[in-house]
Amino acid sequence: MNKITITTPDDWHVHVRSGQLLRTVITHTAKRFKRAIIMPNLNPPITTVTQALHYRNEILHALPENSAFNPLMTLYLTDTTSAEEIHNAADCEHIKGFKLYPSGATTNSQSGISQLEKTYPLLDAMQKHSIPLLIHGEVTDNDIDIFDREKIFIDRHLATLTQKFPNLRIILEHITTQEAVHFIQEQSSQIAATITPQHLMFNRNVFLVGGIKPHYYCLPVIKRETHRQALLAAATSGNPKFFLGTDSAPHPQYRKESNCGCAGCFSAHAAIEFYTEIFEQAGALNKLEGFASHFGADFYQLPRNQSTLCLVKENWTIPATYPAGNDEIIPLNAGEECTWKVL
Ligand code: NCD
Ligand code: ZN
Repeated sequence: MNKITITTPDDWHVHVRSGQLLRTVITHTAKRFKRAIIMPNLNPPITTVTQALHYRNEILHALPENSAFNPLMTLYLTDTTSAEEIHNAADCEHIKGFKLYPSGATTNSQSGISQLEKTYPLLDAMQKHSIPLLIHGEVTDNDIDIFDREKIFIDRHLATLTQKFPNLRIILEHITTQEAVHFIQEQSSQIAATITPQHLMFNRNVFLVGGIKPHYYCLPVIKRETHRQALLAAATSGNPKFFLGTDSAPHPQYRKESNCGCAGCFSAHAAIEFYTEIFEQAGALNKLEGFASHFGADFYQLPRNQSTLCLVKENWTIPATYPAGNDEIIPLNAGEECTWKVL
């Protein structure tokens, strides 16, 4: 197949940052996606409806003219979030969920949750108001190996959580393991997961063999090949519990290429192209539209998009860098060939 037309996709997990970085990255997301769930882990984090609406305006102003892109906002759950804020968020048409970061799990997660049990009254409020909970599912205990952090989070916390709040819609974000796939498959239709392009394309050899390659470093960290296979099978299975969330997470080059490089892959420049290539190679192009354009909207109880996006099979070379003010962003697969192109 040389051309594919699908319902315009949505990105159910993206970091677009603010200021100069925002202006650089938002055009890439808006070119490919009609809507996106915007992550709230700015510094300081977006914790109130008022802040989220200001941030949304900043995003709208950064968009190219005539863009139809709709940023769907989330609030960052902290130890001090009030039940009233949940109420306000549920009442606001632009807020689509709360993001739970275990404290210390990833970039700008210092204000995250210290003890999950403390959030139970808030989760109860979310369940009542039918507003989804988005989870970064990793424990942060020092004695837990970084490659096991997702699995242990599921065992220790997620299973209990889904039992205690059976009607709470939960999205386990950017899943990376076979265990996560199995867990999601076994749960009710209230529980879903997003999957990134990097976790479908790569195993951990890609960033650790032959030299450390910081642009493939993200959290949760990319796992071994058996996990990649499980994720690929889930994404291409047509099961509506698995849908697209790029977790595109841009950082300036100097912060990635450092003796303590930060986590996050920037993929917005070719996000839908990557997924198309992945699905094509898996012989599952016919499953792309559900994963990219239908299942996420259905889970969030939003209408599917009316417009379409067309991709053609045509090689182009991914730039080595994208300028962002005085900084540069190194895109995922920089300098390599991409085999699909958005028309
Ligand atoms: C994200 C970021 O940089 O904000 N980084 C990442 O590695 N994915 C945060 C996150 O989603 O964990
Ligand atoms: Zn993320």
